[in-house]
Amino acid sequence: MIELNFVEGEWPASGTVVVGITAPSALGAAATSLDKKSKGLIRKALERAGGLKHGKFLELVLPRGLDLDRLLLVGIGKPEGLSRLDREELGASIARKLEALAVEDAALAPLDGLELGADAAAAAADLALGAKLASYAFRKYQTPDKEEPKRLGRLTVHLAAAPDADRPALVEAQAAGVALARDLVSEPANVLYPESFAERCRELEELGVEVEVLGEAELEKLGMRALLGVAQGSVRQPRVVVMRWRGAEQAEPLVLVGKGVCFDTGGISIKPAGGMEEMKWDMAGAGAVVGAMHAIAGRQARAHVVGIIGLVENMPSGTAQRPGDVVEAMSGKTIEIINTDAEGRLVLADVLHYAKERLDPAAMVDLATLTGAVVVALGHENAGLFANDEKLAGNLARAAEAVGEGLWRLPLGKAYAKHIKSQIADIKNVGRGREAGATAGAVFLEEFVGGLPWAHLDIAGVAWSSREQPLSAKGATGFGVRLLDELVRLAYEADAKG
Ligand code: BES
Ligand code: MN
Ligand code: ZN
Repeated sequence: MIELNFVEGEWPASGTVVVGITAPSALGAAATSLDKKSKGLIRKALERAGGLKHGKFLELVLPRGLDLDRLLLVGIGKPEGLSRLDREELGASIARKLEALAVEDAALAPLDGLELGADAAAAAADLALGAKLASYAFRKYQTPDKEEPKRLGRLTVHLAAAPDADRPALVEAQAAGVALARDLVSEPANVLYPESFAERCRELEELGVEVEVLGEAELEKLGMRALLGVAQGSVRQPRVVVMRWRGAEQAEPLVLVGKGVCFDTGGISIKPAGGMEEMKWDMAGAGAVVGAMHAIAGRQARAHVVGIIGLVENMPSGTAQRPGDVVEAMSGKTIEIINTDAEGRLVLADVLHYAKERLDPAAMVDLATLTGAVVVALGHENAGLFANDEKLAGNLARAAEAVGEGLWRLPLGKAYAKHIKSQIADIKNVGRGREAGATAGAVFLEEFVGGLPWAHLDIAGVAWSSREQPLSAKGATGFGVRLLDELVRLAYEADAKG
């Protein structure tokens, strides 16, 4: 990820400079000054190009009369109509353009016209965040190629007036949280398994987060037989990690719960070979929770938030759980295992119950790559939102809208709860085949939340992308980090209105 600098007052006079042009070809202060110095070069270039539409670039190399290597004009369109997300995406496209031009270090000149959409510093922060998110790539396991073009390493944002003190810090905190989630989700399962994942969570202690790791013996003692049943086929021991950020005095925390299946083979109900490598990211819910905790602590949010993740590996072996087995969850409910590939809900059953009993939550939000069915229903455009509480659902929807991480509400309800009735136990871990599969997972989880305000986000379709997205490269998206951080800001901070 690129390094960001914000500087006040002085305008860039060398190197590569990016300047915004509002629709169709209006020059703001910075562009006007550069245009004067270059005896009308910018106006002439824009005239020849017939103006510059939103998101389009015009590149002037060694512009006459200026001491610059390159002047990159970017079309901003009508700035009044730009949303926060539009500005982020504009920042992302600037970063990608600079990458394509093999520019290592660039300056973003005063954001002419963007001041109209929001105050200039806020607009600059949005652009910078977009640039940062888009510049993330997971290259840990690739030997650097010496022939490869240079990478964009630094972006300096020039502002007419000082940015309000904590804006840059907010950008850094969110970007770092998203990067951490993407790092975790991208790691292969031979590197990131429950124990090593739990170790990575300890890094949050540096930010002031209290981290507690529950080992196998403690999970046994707690009676987490649903979670342990999933883990028993693997040589890797399970872990549960509790991460507490006490940014406010309030007693009852918002609790964020994550599914952390570090690899999901399906177990004895084994998955087909094709595409199974994707199941290394079956811990994306846990990754998002850890990333969100990083962002929340990184910006010193004035809220009490606890993250809790259940970490296991789902493997077939001589010790693995069988279809037909019956396990007793920590809550005392008995579960008939019909399909060992419906393991995420078993892990979350115990983690949700533990959270309810021990953490005294104001509300719980879980994130899980829970079902293929949600991908059938919603594709890769939205995560499924299930909630037993209208206020929480509303706050999540507002947060989702603000950060552009889509949620679409799907149903819960008594009629669906019947789908998971078992012949032999209290409930079974699958519903009625292809009928309402995402809801079957959700109503299963609801059995363990004891009526507390709760929401479940099925992120199976959005945690990973086979295509480049406006704000993320192919691969891990980090979905959920910004959404949860925004939820905290909207509804759980000292001065929140939610
Ligand atoms: N991890 C999978 C769900 C999944 C599928 C995530 C595709 C990401 C992409 C989950 O554990 C699973 O296997 N679910 C089963 C449930 C079924 C057996 C009731 C599924 O969706 O097929
Ligand atoms: Mn599975
Ligand atoms: Zn799974």
